[in-house]
Amino acid sequence: MTGLRTAFGEAFGRAAEGVWHAPGRINLIGEHTDYNDGLVLPFALSRGVSVAAARRDDGVVEVRSLQADGTVTAPVEGGTVVSEGWPSERSWAAYPVGMARVLRERGTGGASLLIDSDLPQGAGLSSSAALECATALALCDLYGVEIDRPELARLAQRAENEQVGMPCGLMDQSASLLATPGHALMLDCRSGLSAQVPFDPSQAGLTLLAVDTRASHALTGGDYGRRRAECEEAAALLGVDALRDVKDLAGALGRLGDPVLRRRVQHVVTENHRVEASVGLLRAGAAGELGAMLNASHLSLRDQFEISWPEADTAVDAALRAGARGGRMIGGGFGGSVIVLTAADRAGRVRDAIAAAYAKRGWTAPEFLDAVPSAGARRLA
Ligand code: GLA
Repeated sequence: MTGLRTAFGEAFGRAAEGVWHAPGRINLIGEHTDYNDGLVLPFALSRGVSVAAARRDDGVVEVRSLQADGTVTAPVEGGTVVSEGWPSERSWAAYPVGMARVLRERGTGGASLLIDSDLPQGAGLSSSAALECATALALCDLYGVEIDRPELARLAQRAENEQVGMPCGLMDQSASLLATPGHALMLDCRSGLSAQVPFDPSQAGLTLLAVDTRASHALTGGDYGRRRAECEEAAALLGVDALRDVKDLAGALGRLGDPVLRRRVQHVVTENHRVEASVGLLRAGAAGELGAMLNASHLSLRDQFEISWPEADTAVDAALRAGARGGRMIGGGFGGSVIVLTAADRAGRVRDAIAAAYAKRGWTAPEFLDAVPSAGARRLA
């Protein structure tokens, strides 16, 4: 933190006015349900993105990152970043600049921002949402603009949708802004209402491993948007506002002629039920039973939503064979991380089994992280 302030002084030749931090997230369960107005159950990681910042009075956002070369400057006033066709080497800066452009309507202005992240990029741990949220908190504080956190999450989602061009749902930004230590966040993405559900794996004798499968994903690639479009098409054919509203699954499947759309609906509807069941298990103090939910979610994402990838399937399979309680891919799909729930005293064996399955296939070794439900975004200094 002091390090980031010092680095800010060196980078911009003046003092930072503060330092803000926003965490990455793990989604326990509820995948591809957020943009279907459904339920999700993420929690915040202890890792994330920090931003040191100071105001500028010339309407310019100036951004640097300790993880990238060069300075990106852009006017706060302007159209969308996506329409400006930025070259790929400055694409990381689209998130803070996009955020500043969205928040400008609420009274914030220009700023110098120095970014530091300890989240692996492309690991599906929401480094982009963390960057948006840390920037959003910094700008609001610097300009004395008060926006409640659920609304700020929607504005950060809007920045990603409109400015970056990624049609994401509301989950990642909400997790980063609303999470609390020792809890998962049950969020209803239609009403925006949320509840803190106690989740402390170590207290229950469990370990939740996050495994970076080292197959990196880029969700701006189009597959994510295609899935979203398929869900919206199915909802329109079924005459409902969103797949959240499908109550009679068998009836809905019977009315859809396209087998692809049937599979998508099957996933979304059952996944919402799995979130509700998981919340019930956690509230009952039965966190170990979540394993079965994770396994069912993974099979559904693999076979019905068709977004898993070989490294994820291999990691989950190896973990289960080594005695883990359950595991699944997380995030948008096609790369990123899986989570594995295991008895704490088996975690070493599970890790070794996953590493061995990778080595046997000659894949780059996976990386492991003990995922502990941590605090949401905040000012550090
Ligand atoms: C990405 C998106 C989220 C959500 C997940 C899938 O992380 O940013 O909004 O849709 O994929 O659950």
